[in-house]
Amino acid sequence: MTQKTQILNLNRFDPDSAHAAPELLRARMRHAGASSVLFYAEPVEMVRGEGVWLTSAEGRRYLDVYNNVPSVGHCHPKVAEAIAKQSATLTTHTRYLNRVVETYAERLLATFPAPLSNLVMTCSGTEANDLAMRIAEAGTGGRGFIVTEAAYHGNSAAVNEISPSAWKSRGPAAHVRLVPAPKAPGFDAAVAAAAQSLDAAGVGVAALIVDSIFSSDGIFADPAGFLAPAVAAVRAAGGLFIADEVQPGFGRTGTGLWGFARHGVVPDIVTMGKPMGNGYPMAGMVTRPDLLAQFCEETGYFNTFGGNPVAAAAGLAVLDVIRDEGLVENAREVGAYFRAGLAELAARAPVMGEVRGAGLFIGLDFIDPERGTPDAAQAGRTINALKQKGILIGAAGLYGYTLKIRPPLPFSRDNVDFFLQVLAEVMAG
Ligand SMILES: Cc1ncc(COP(=O)(O)O)c(C=O)c1O
Repeated sequence: MTQKTQILNLNRFDPDSAHAAPELLRARMRHAGASSVLFYAEPVEMVRGEGVWLTSAEGRRYLDVYNNVPSVGHCHPKVAEAIAKQSATLTTHTRYLNRVVETYAERLLATFPAPLSNLVMTCSGTEANDLAMRIAEAGTGGRGFIVTEAAYHGNSAAVNEISPSAWKSRGPAAHVRLVPAPKAPGFDAAVAAAAQSLDAAGVGVAALIVDSIFSSDGIFADPAGFLAPAVAAVRAAGGLFIADEVQPGFGRTGTGLWGFARHGVVPDIVTMGKPMGNGYPMAGMVTRPDLLAQFCEETGYFNTFGGNPVAAAAGLAVLDVIRDEGLVENAREVGAYFRAGLAELAARAPVMGEVRGAGLFIGLDFIDPERGTPDAAQAGRTINALKQKGILIGAAGLYGYTLKIRPPLPFSRDNVDFFLQVLAEVMAG
């Protein structure tokens, strides 16, 4: 049987292999202990980032085909300058009025459909999802959550309960139901059955929460619109729909800023993070005023660092760069070119399976050519071989056999050509 993988084990360095490890690696293992998670069979020390390139301590340049936090490009000078300037001017919590913060809120909220007009800023995607869960519970009276089989939504106690890809030796709690990733039609029926099961258990339905590009499940984007009947199913059962935009948000899917828009749905709650500050740690939750008011009647919410002026300045610079450099259009055009090139390569390489995705979020499966079954070992070998040739990439999916192609958004056609050429070399052995 194909082995399921845990998200932190994908492309993970094996500490038992570190007999003659360099000093920095030994220091990391000594300090972080069992919590250390490093990429690659031979971890790499990075010292500099610029655009779509990272430079290692050995002076080697790597093409970044993996990182979505530095979404407008590593160390973008406009974002770095905005952070430096604001941190030299004022940085405080959100209990004073501040024009930079309100300007950011205004700009960000203008990118959402009308009912979604309140923003709460947090420091991490986990905090945003934790708040979203609490708002959904307060708004519905239900406690149950429906998530996909290999979902990841964050690392707090509550959010970990809805993050099956982080579980090692446990199953879902009584208030959580898992549905298969939307590989085939029937996602809405699975959501409806999960909602019924939560009702039958007396838990009630708080929400369906999905990453709208299904990143950790293996990247499922098509057909656009497939989420709409699933959202209708959860609403029919009295639950809300939470779109987790931590991965697809801020233009990556190539149609507007948000992944849910491809599906023609308006969520009740949207959460976002990673690329929001291009590396400055910031995240947020957007919802309808009625839902937020209902929650705030029960519990107050304050986040010391969330929504501070430096975060707002970083966020504003990110929105400016996305607009000024046409990064949504770039994601759409270069992403389509990328998928076409991968499909051409896959047609000639029997170990390569399906190519899926939207914009610059692409999944490529590795399979056993005879049986058509997932081949995570081949994905792992490919990832490490690409690194030897100066390309950074990772894996995704329930069985870890999908190459996760998710570069910074200024990725060019030349970058794609280079990647495809090196991948072809790797595949040729
Ligand atoms: C879809 C999704 N949601 C939420 C999170 C949690 O975000 P953070 O690590 O900022 O808490 C992640 C992180 O990987 C994620 O991929």
